[in-house]
Amino acid sequence: MTQLVLECRNIKKCYAEGPQRVEVLRGVELQLHASESIAIVGASGSGKSTLLNMLGGLDKPDDGEVRLLDKAFSDCNENVRGDLRNQYLGFVYQFHHLLPEFTAIENVSMPLLIRGLSRKAAAVEAMGLLERVGLQARGLHKPAELSGGERQRVAIARALVNKPACVLMDEPTGNLDEDNAEAIQKLMLDLSKQSQTAFVVVTHDQQLARKMHRCFRLDHGKLEPQL
Ligand SMILES: Nc1ncnc2c1ncn2[C@@H]1O[C@H](COP(=O)(O)OP(=O)(O)OP(=O)(O)O)[C@@H](O)[C@H]1O
Ligand SMILES: [Mg+2]
Repeated sequence: MTQLVLECRNIKKCYAEGPQRVEVLRGVELQLHASESIAIVGASGSGKSTLLNMLGGLDKPDDGEVRLLDKAFSDCNENVRGDLRNQYLGFVYQFHHLLPEFTAIENVSMPLLIRGLSRKAAAVEAMGLLERVGLQARGLHKPAELSGGERQRVAIARALVNKPACVLMDEPTGNLDEDNAEAIQKLMLDLSKQSQTAFVVVTHDQQLARKMHRCFRLDHGKLEPQL
């Protein structure tokens, strides 16, 4: 039996904006095992990014529990969640969140530096990943000197460089042409085979969704299997 990497137990989340209450998640259940990849689709505003933030420990559910590698992740305090996130998770945000002052190599190196690698060792690893996303010639560029799709690929390289147990991706191929989107799909597939990496991918890209092991639709606050 493969290891359970991420688990949601009856996750609920509600936003209250003044008098308005928006029940975004109404009891999400999910089990994700090592090497497994899932796609999450759903209408704009259905709560996909909200759910991904819960899975990544960036936000806490109002009710229910997120478990990461059999630890009660969502019940940990912010510091512990941050440590667990750095150690076990990679995150590709819907809007890339690269550090503007740093080059592509430095941005991709960051998770390794946090883990204690030397700058040189981190840069070598970072360059390897940048090569795999087709950016070997852009290592010294800062985010403002990159195109939207290039920034997205740097963000993907950064999420993968630590060989995390699980990678959470919010619209990873939204700005990419077909060839680059395919290269990213291949990289994901290789990692799931070589390093047992699990993937949760929020996407509108049907082609990418079909490549994942399972696909779910977030609808009325619940995850429904998509056939
Ligand atoms: N911080 C917040 N405060 C109040 N409401 C919020 C907050 N964040 C999100 N929402 C609301 O929660 C709902 C879900 O938002 P979310 O960003 O999760 O949607 P999404 O499925 O990722 O949409 P998209 O496909 O457009 O990215 C939306 O109706 C949004 O307006
Ligand atoms: Mg979103």
